[in-house]
Amino acid sequence: MKKIIAPVFLSFLLFFSFCTTQQNEHQQTTLKQSANYPVGTAVGFKWLKNDTTARKIIQKDFNSLTAENCMKMYAVQPKQDSFVWKKTDYLVEFCRQNDIRLHGHALNWYLSTPKWVKAYNGDSSALEQILKNHIQTYAGRYKGKVASWDVVNEALADETGGYRSCVWFDELGKDYVARSFKYARQADPDVKLFYNDYYLESDTAKLETCLKMIDEFQQKNIPIDGIGLQFHLYIDHPSIDAIENALEEFTKRDLLIHISELDITFNHHRSEPKYHQFTDSMAMVQKQRYFEIVDAYQRIVPKEQQYGISVWGFLDKYTWIRSFFDIPAWPCLYDDDYQAKPAYFGFLKAAQQQ
Ligand code: G3I
Repeated sequence: MKKIIAPVFLSFLLFFSFCTTQQNEHQQTTLKQSANYPVGTAVGFKWLKNDTTARKIIQKDFNSLTAENCMKMYAVQPKQDSFVWKKTDYLVEFCRQNDIRLHGHALNWYLSTPKWVKAYNGDSSALEQILKNHIQTYAGRYKGKVASWDVVNEALADETGGYRSCVWFDELGKDYVARSFKYARQADPDVKLFYNDYYLESDTAKLETCLKMIDEFQQKNIPIDGIGLQFHLYIDHPSIDAIENALEEFTKRDLLIHISELDITFNHHRSEPKYHQFTDSMAMVQKQRYFEIVDAYQRIVPKEQQYGISVWGFLDKYTWIRSFFDIPAWPCLYDDDYQAKPAYFGFLKAAQQQ
């Protein structure tokens, strides 16, 4: 009898420990549970609404959302004074139901300026009024519902150290950036206000101008709470040292730091694609790169300045890079079939070691 009981007992023990391990592994696969800070993703409105598998992943892994496109000015005020709230209302409700933070993107971005503004031929004070009205109507309506805003996105030009030419800069001068922050603060005294930009980690002229702008804001009491470092990265560029340098510089300014649009791609956007298939060895290199970025953020940015890490979409199949640049791309944490990639486990491993 003893001979029978022992193996049965052993099998039971093994089965029990297997279940426990499975359960632990299941829990470990949750990004938001592992990180000490919010983990976010950009969402496309259509797929958020219709793709139930993607929604389940959001509910499992993320506790911060950014609208990929539907909160941009062309979507919210497509005609002058005619505001469209439906999609933002939907996002606010989705976030409320799922206990997710909503990060607003963006109050002002040259690339999302609607046609009617670009075609505008009034004087500069009327254009200023359009800027103020858009920001205050929008931020005012979502007061207490949107946790933070990218107030101005990408105001700085590439590689020149100057401001980007656009209707706002050309007509209102560089101070339109500071005034946008003031207008947003007047509309919502408690919301967190961010300046958001890309390549601050690799474009030294842009980084310098951005730091100067932040220093001026802080000296003049312009209400800025944080910096959004987009981090649309390549697998081989920029170096981890350059990334750490950017994190250090903004951390010194006592700002909240949001890695706001992280993705890591292989083919460079503006040259002939070198990679046509995503191989296992590419997946492992990408895993290591995700690990290093998350690890650098956690090491360099003190807890009280960590606003979180948001990826710019989590499914390769919905990545903006494929359609925008018409190149093969696999920059996300999940593959085309909703399976977590090694990249996911690179992020997770770093988050778990805090
Ligand atoms: O919805 C229309 C569709 O009706 C039309 O048939 C199609 C034809 O081109 O265009 C569709 O709109 C596209 C839209 O994405 C939705 O898919 C636009 O052309 C396309 O330009 C737009 O691209 C977005 C881009 O911002 C410009 O707004 C990307 O999805 C979005 O990922 C990207 O996000 C930006 C951040 O806001 C700021 N930082 C950089 C980041 C990546 O560029």
